Amino acid sequence: MLQKVLSQLDQDRDAAVARLQDFLRIPSVSTKEENRTDVAQCAQFLADRLNELKFDARVHETAGHPVVVARNEHVPGRPTVLLYGHYDVQPVEPLELWKTPPFEPTIRDGAIYARGAADDKGQVWAHVEAIRAWQQAGGVPANLVLLLEGEEEIGSPNLQKFMEEHRGDLAADIALISDTNQFARGLPAITYGLRGLVYEEIFLQGPDHDLHSGLFGGAVPNPANILCEILATLHDDQGRVNIPGFYDDVVPLEDKEREMWRKLPFDEGELARELGLEALVGEAGYSTIERKWARPTCDVNGITTGYQGEGAKTVIPSKASAKVSMRLVPNQDPAKIRDAFERAIRERCPAGVKVEFKNFGLAEPLVVPLDLQAMKLAAEAVKVGFGVEPTFMREGGSIPVVSQIKRMLGIDTLLVGFGLPDDRVHSPNEKFDLDAFYGGMRTAAALYARLAEMK
Ligand code: BES
Ligand code: MN
Ligand code: MN
Repeated sequence: MLQKVLSQLDQDRDAAVARLQDFLRIPSVSTKEENRTDVAQCAQFLADRLNELKFDARVHETAGHPVVVARNEHVPGRPTVLLYGHYDVQPVEPLELWKTPPFEPTIRDGAIYARGAADDKGQVWAHVEAIRAWQQAGGVPANLVLLLEGEEEIGSPNLQKFMEEHRGDLAADIALISDTNQFARGLPAITYGLRGLVYEEIFLQGPDHDLHSGLFGGAVPNPANILCEILATLHDDQGRVNIPGFYDDVVPLEDKEREMWRKLPFDEGELARELGLEALVGEAGYSTIERKWARPTCDVNGITTGYQGEGAKTVIPSKASAKVSMRLVPNQDPAKIRDAFERAIRERCPAGVKVEFKNFGLAEPLVVPLDLQAMKLAAEAVKVGFGVEPTFMREGGSIPVVSQIKRMLGIDTLLVGFGLPDDRVHSPNEKFDLDAFYGGMRTAAALYARLAEMK
């Protein structure tokens, strides 16, 4: 039966791409108030398509954007797979850098270009197409529960509560997410680790209004100067994060894992060139792969202060702020790291300026055990889907739901993603390779069949 479903998917590719384009046209930017109705419409679109495929799909309101839950008719005794994905996308700015508009999905050079093409609509849609093909062939062979959220890109602020309230409906034997990457073109992957995240904004307040920098400069604390000085203390000369206690709970990398990663076909020079850089930099003593996948970091994501307009304005700003993200690795605790960060910044702040913080989300770091039976079955499915054995990799990004699934539902998550490292996710000209989409649809179809064999 799987063979029949696979050839159906292979034959129906053009129509599948056209349906994905309909999904991509909806500007479901979760962070912007102006897109609130678009996000809601996108949830409804998903529910409608899944209901057409004879799933029982519902849109659930939350305090934020809706959650879509959909299930096929469950057969007692069959393994249940919880499939999570997100239908929200990142903002598109700067708009002028897009070659074609972000919500007018366009095919060129074997890829589909649109915001969300890879992250995560294209990957979600690979599953929808696999479901369609199975339903046409008599039904998906596993019990499926789809959990599709509209707030992943803003840190899933309402998902935990939703899951607690619907715990019974979400019970499953294994979770599955396609929201990660292949290792490289032609090298599909299963991701067995993600970094966690602490995202903080620091607000400094100096004088209660902007001041003439000639009349007052030298006599008052300048929050812009102070912010820069503080941010400059966040790393030492070895590229390590200079926050007391930051590394206390970090599990050191094992030689076995480092050995495994050394064998991966990865070219630092090539990555540097792709990024328009002369060289890569990072923490001393670690390779680029280790730095990205398994070492914690601290990065300034944005700074706001002072005069930003054209030309000069002689002014001492009254306020300065910075957004800072920290990527965490096992066993760092996001709440503990947030506290350590705030304490360190406070201590480095001189008298005369007030400091406040706002937190934009915490996600736990994780590693999924490689010896799970489901991992082996997923590897077989990737082989069926792409014709190549998967590479086992970790990744530097975060997906907050994974640890929530583990804690609340007690199950592990398989991260079987189809994106490519050059997809430009979160960036202008995001794309999803058509080959990744086709291989993804096939892998999804094979995953349901293989995971149905889980003991
Ligand atoms: N899908 C990404 C994360 C990702 C991408 C993991 C590629 C592994 C490989 C996800 O949508 C994302 O962007 N996550 C955010 C989380 C945050 C907003 C809480 C991230 O990592 O910055
Ligand atoms: Mn994503
Ligand atoms: Mn994302």
